[in-house]
Amino acid sequence: MKQRLSLVHYTMNLYLYYLLKSFFFFFFFFFFFFSLSLSLSLSLLLYLLELTYNNISIMQGMDGVVSVFINENIYHHTTRSWDFMGVLENVERSNIESDVIVGVIDSGIWPESESFQDEGLGPPPTKWKGRCQTSQNFTCNNKIIGAQYFRADGNFSKDEPSPRDTVGHGTHTASIVAGRVVQSASFLGLGEGIARGGVPSARIAVYKSCWSYDGCKFADVLAAFDAAISDGVDIISVSLGNSQIEAVPYFHDPIAIGSFHAMKRGILTSTASGNTGPGLRSLSNYAPWLLTVGAGTIDRKFTTTVQLDNGMVFEGISLNTFDLENKTFPLIYGGDAPDTIFSNSTLSRYCLPDSLNKTLVEGKIVVCDMLLRPDRGLEEVFVDGAAGTIMHFVEPNLYDTALSFPLPASYIRNDDAVHLIAYTRNLTSTPFGRIHKSVEVKDTSAPYVASFSSRGPHPLSPHILKPDLIAPGVDILAAWSPVASVSRVEGDPRSVPYTIASGTSMACPHATAVAAYVKSFHPTWSAAAIRSALMTTALPMSHAKNGEAELSYGSGHINPLKAVKPGLVYDTVEGDYVKFLCSQGLNDINMNRITGDNSSCQGNTTNWDLNYPTIALPTSVGSFSSMFTRTVTNVGSPNSTYNVVVTTPQGQALSIKVQPSLLSFNSLGQKITFTVRVSGTIGMRALISASLVWDDGQHQVRSPIVVFNLS
Ligand SMILES: *[C@@H]1O[C@H](CO)[C@@H](O)[C@H](O)[C@H]1NC(C)=O
Ligand SMILES: *[C@@H]1O[C@H](CO)[C@@H](O)[C@H](O)[C@H]1NC(C)=O
Ligand SMILES: *[C@@H]1O[C@H](CO)[C@@H](O)[C@H](O)[C@H]1NC(C)=O
Ligand SMILES: *[C@@H]1O[C@H](CO)[C@@H](O)[C@H](O)[C@H]1NC(C)=O
Ligand SMILES: *[C@@H]1O[C@H](CO)[C@@H](O)[C@H](O)[C@H]1NC(C)=O
Ligand SMILES: *[C@@H]1O[C@H](CO)[C@@H](O)[C@H](O)[C@H]1NC(C)=O
Ligand SMILES: *[C@@H]1O[C@H](CO)[C@@H](O)[C@H](O)[C@H]1NC(C)=O
Ligand SMILES: *[C@@H]1O[C@H](CO)[C@@H](O)[C@H](O)[C@H]1NC(C)=O
Ligand SMILES: *[C@@H]1O[C@H](CO)[C@@H](O)[C@H](O)[C@H]1NC(C)=O
Repeated sequence: MKQRLSLVHYTMNLYLYYLLKSFFFFFFFFFFFFSLSLSLSLSLLLYLLELTYNNISIMQGMDGVVSVFINENIYHHTTRSWDFMGVLENVERSNIESDVIVGVIDSGIWPESESFQDEGLGPPPTKWKGRCQTSQNFTCNNKIIGAQYFRADGNFSKDEPSPRDTVGHGTHTASIVAGRVVQSASFLGLGEGIARGGVPSARIAVYKSCWSYDGCKFADVLAAFDAAISDGVDIISVSLGNSQIEAVPYFHDPIAIGSFHAMKRGILTSTASGNTGPGLRSLSNYAPWLLTVGAGTIDRKFTTTVQLDNGMVFEGISLNTFDLENKTFPLIYGGDAPDTIFSNSTLSRYCLPDSLNKTLVEGKIVVCDMLLRPDRGLEEVFVDGAAGTIMHFVEPNLYDTALSFPLPASYIRNDDAVHLIAYTRNLTSTPFGRIHKSVEVKDTSAPYVASFSSRGPHPLSPHILKPDLIAPGVDILAAWSPVASVSRVEGDPRSVPYTIASGTSMACPHATAVAAYVKSFHPTWSAAAIRSALMTTALPMSHAKNGEAELSYGSGHINPLKAVKPGLVYDTVEGDYVKFLCSQGLNDINMNRITGDNSSCQGNTTNWDLNYPTIALPTSVGSFSSMFTRTVTNVGSPNSTYNVVVTTPQGQALSIKVQPSLLSFNSLGQKITFTVRVSGTIGMRALISASLVWDDGQHQVRSPIVVFNLS
């Protein structure tokens, strides 16, 4: 599998190269030429990349190139997350939870997993119109009530035609949403506890659009949406997304298009915001009819101690299930062990593919500098037969996510790495060290936004705040396919029924489950009403702890129990989204690619103020003043009076005026419109966080307001 990287030339390009290469290996990318209806195979693309990567701009030059990948970048846990959010095992549940059907568009499912056994579940709800594509030894049950696979090109040369998940991703996400209660699940002893999904009685409908070797294709994702909608699912969960090479227009994005049709039928689509944080404008899945979910931490993390023979001890982070029983190994710095024919120390310090001299590193612990968060567990040290690896990030210091590696591994902080490298490179001593098995520790600062979670502002429509909220997406224990590699490195010998993973791919199904939970109490609510309930009840997060504030956490951290009783909702109907699209300058042809009908803008391009539960105001240096119009629908008590409570940060020139400041309802379903004038002054590179809360003494219906100037 090794290929020589003879074309690696410049350090600048090295960074880009590594970035792209790791995307290719880790994510499941697919590229589409819309105009030509052609798609490049992954191997062809890699080939192209190898040949031309010196001129990476070719990537940008491919007109209409869109890729879809699995948002699972970083790996972490699940068992604990529901407890962390206050959804205890005996939480109040609707007696029709088992009528709720969740459609999961992903890499399929492992039906034999204990998380999907159907004991005690009756036959599928009568509204179910889907089917089970029984193939070979794949069968459905009363938990997995439907399963289909989609592969328009019919090429099954490398994967069997079956909804079975050989990747692990789809099994993981489905079990986070609706896995049954499974006692003493763990990842080889790590994170041991009860594994359960958010809605353990809900039914799962599987739509496999992602394949083990070449990812998810546009047509297959769209076909999956079509099937899910006509089968009668209630909520759709999609932990996939577009690449971040450039922002994808709504009408070129299969998830945006598919979910628009779902929205028309009252079906909410929950999506992952992407794993390309912490940089700004790194979002995917930003269409305003989607629920866009970022990833936050929970109060459990995994640490891996590194101990040197000179007595130094460092607390690192990783998921190390290998128990070396205190054995010590010689240490070597990657930069001191280059393969001198094909590489040099500039490359080998990062332990890049084919950069190390196997003779020098075999049986040793290799110390590697990392340019980026390591995905896919440093294949190079593994194939070279190293005893282990200790890594640190050169920059930025992304130290919040534990990853799985196919060999003993830990990553440590930069300031510790200085000492480790000095010791490792000291020619007058014989450096030895050991890597301990990981342990679980309490993280009292949770929740905070994961470093990898994609940030706003919205790349196309910056006055729509995205992500909408965050949900647990770090160190989540959930079911896995026993045939899938835990570290994503070929040759990893471990086969496990449960694993710990991180990513917005894991955050998305948590939010999907909460949406299903809300739906089980309010079966008639629209997609926008359910999303509004999730957003206005979210736990406020702290700007101080999360630098990008609302651009990283949206409304805040999902709060499942409160989401069932939001009091008021910000509802939105199809026509509102059409007007929104008109205001974004879409012509009728592109508009109808999304709506699938003859909707027309009639030349109307005025800015449309979408009835969104949040308010974002992008502005430039100096003074600003904008008026927003919102309409709330009463879903609480028929007779209720809400007072407005506005919170603005001290010392900021920000004024928020709400008209009227009191809302009096006398029936359910009643709508009242109000306006919000946001004015003040803002400096360079500044962001001001404020909020508006409608409070009737029982419900606090909160909307964050964020004003930002990023230039
Ligand atoms: C290492 O190799 C790269 C790529 O071939 C080259 O650009 C760089 O100058 C080399 N560095 C050293 C120190 O030789
Ligand atoms: C499914 O059937 C195939 C062919 O008989 C077999 O190779 C495979 O192991 C089976 N898989 C499972 C999970 O039973
Ligand atoms: C099917 O996929 C394989 C693997 O990507 C590829 O080598 C082969 O050419 C494809 N076959 C066709 C008919 O496209
Ligand atoms: C490893 O070392 C620790 C402390 O140094 C000790 O408590 C433990 O028993 C040792 N484990 C083994 C397997 O030797
Ligand atoms: C690898 O290291 C060994 C031992 O130092 C040396 O003999 C050999 O030439 C090196 N090979 C390469 C390709 O650098
Ligand atoms: C290198 O190791 C020797 C012997 O252990 C020690 O005396 C010396 O201080 C070390 N040098 C550095 C720079 O750490
Ligand atoms: C769109 O308009 C055309 C021509 O007027 C008509 O034939 C077609 O049925 C319409 N399609 C929809 C989805 O309304
Ligand atoms: C355009 O849209 C705005 C906002 O909805 C509306 O006020 C206006 O009447 C519309 N104009 C036309 C010509 O449809
Ligand atoms: C709400 O108020 C109206 C008029 O004030 C009254 O007639 C009605 O009975 C009240 N409804 C409830 C449920 O309290």
